[in-house]
Amino acid sequence: MLKLTHMKTSETLIAKLKTKKARIAVIGLGYVGLPLAVEKAKMGFSVVGLDVNKARVDMVNKGECYIPDVVDGALAELVKTKKLRATLDFSVLKKVDAICICVPTPLDENKDPDISYIEATTKQVAKYLHKGQLVSLESTTYPGTTEEIMLPELEKTGLKVGKDFFLVFSPERVDPGNKQFNLKNTPKVIGGVTKTCSEVARNLYGQIIDNIMIVSSPKVAEMEKLLENIYRSVNIALVNELAMLCRKMKIDMWEVVDAAATKPYGFMPFYPGPGIGGHCIPLDPIYLSWKAKKYGFNTEVIELAARINEDMPEYVIRLVKDALAGKKKNIEGAKVVLLGMAYKKDINDWRESPAIKLFEILKKYKANVVYHDPFIPSLKIEGKAERSVKLTDSLIKSADCLLIATNHTCFDYKKMIKNAKLIVDTRGATRKFGKFKNVEVL
Ligand SMILES: NC(=O)c1ccc[n+]([C@@H]2O[C@H](COP(=O)([O-])OP(=O)(O)OC[C@H]3O[C@@H](n4cnc5c(N)ncnc54)[C@H](O)[C@@H]3O)[C@@H](O)[C@H]2O)c1
Repeated sequence: MLKLTHMKTSETLIAKLKTKKARIAVIGLGYVGLPLAVEKAKMGFSVVGLDVNKARVDMVNKGECYIPDVVDGALAELVKTKKLRATLDFSVLKKVDAICICVPTPLDENKDPDISYIEATTKQVAKYLHKGQLVSLESTTYPGTTEEIMLPELEKTGLKVGKDFFLVFSPERVDPGNKQFNLKNTPKVIGGVTKTCSEVARNLYGQIIDNIMIVSSPKVAEMEKLLENIYRSVNIALVNELAMLCRKMKIDMWEVVDAAATKPYGFMPFYPGPGIGGHCIPLDPIYLSWKAKKYGFNTEVIELAARINEDMPEYVIRLVKDALAGKKKNIEGAKVVLLGMAYKKDINDWRESPAIKLFEILKKYKANVVYHDPFIPSLKIEGKAERSVKLTDSLIKSADCLLIATNHTCFDYKKMIKNAKLIVDTRGATRKFGKFKNVEVL
């Protein structure tokens, strides 16, 4: 009899998901949550987005988009047809069948994982948790978060996981700005607390995603997401280290990577750069290192990679200094135009961007620095508001150095090469046009 009731709860939910009658909530309407909410609504689900940021909630309800990956007009259409709305009021969770949690997972002031957003959200979810509800955590976090932090809080309600409600960790893999891989064609990993939890979640995500990979536990899913990002951090550190060596040895590191990339197996190209940025690669490895210490384990490779990447902005400014010195110009007072503040090309996200550090270091050396980024009209650096300047011909000609921090596609590199006194190119953006006396590539 008990078994029958249990089957019924999961099967009822699966049926609702299959027929798209399930109502879905997405908590945290940022880079991850908003595109997810839009995709689910496009599939025909009724979706409610929850956020603590009133401005974002209001914008969604007006059909105004603040995340570049959401196609213009798509959001407005879904709001108009009442497939998607946003609210600050968590009591809507009472009427919802599936909940996807996409809240931030930053570091605190001691540079330790700050999972307070997950904790706060879990408390809200627990308040309205009811039989037949699926909860999926998508925020990147350390292994153990789902079962050690969320599960006990949710089970305090007296409801039982795998029987009354379903809990999974299913990491988000969105790559902002990526035109080739999107939510639909990027496989999704699901790790449920029980097998039934995973099966229910398969029916939520399988509706919009081509390939689903079920793993044996939330911990495996939490760890695999960290592996993906640590893999990037370590490989970027490796090419950055080799780039510094190659400069001493007068070898073109970019050519080396391009050559190695011709190997059809066992090698994936990573390129040097001014450091790492964004909400993921600089922070996520620290989540694992922190957790590893609880087991008396030092993650040496991870920490070394982080150090090398963190030191890159200082290294880049040393290059700028040397290149200016070669033109008999001191960095103090030099007019430097920083090109691109986003942490990677063609997006407007400047969280943890190495360009910010480059700006700060240039200021420290008393350079006369301004920035140009068509994606980021203004931002705050060290508490001070800065605005993107117009990249006029006269600015290009009068600047002592153009420092390419981000290789936005829209930049006119040919014009820069033709007119600038000096370019320091940390992204290899000018390489395809040839080698030039006024261009120093990292
Ligand atoms: N941005 C990426 O490229 C990316 C890729 C994969 C995974 N992730 C992971 O996804 C998670 C979210 O990242 P993001 O880039 O979307 O963050 P974001 O800062 O863009 O968005 C998070 C949103 O959550 C809201 N929020 C904060 N606390 C809340 C609460 N208690 N209740 C409801 N809403 C709340 C914020 O107001 C914000 O709108 C993080 O764990 C991140 O590591 C991000």
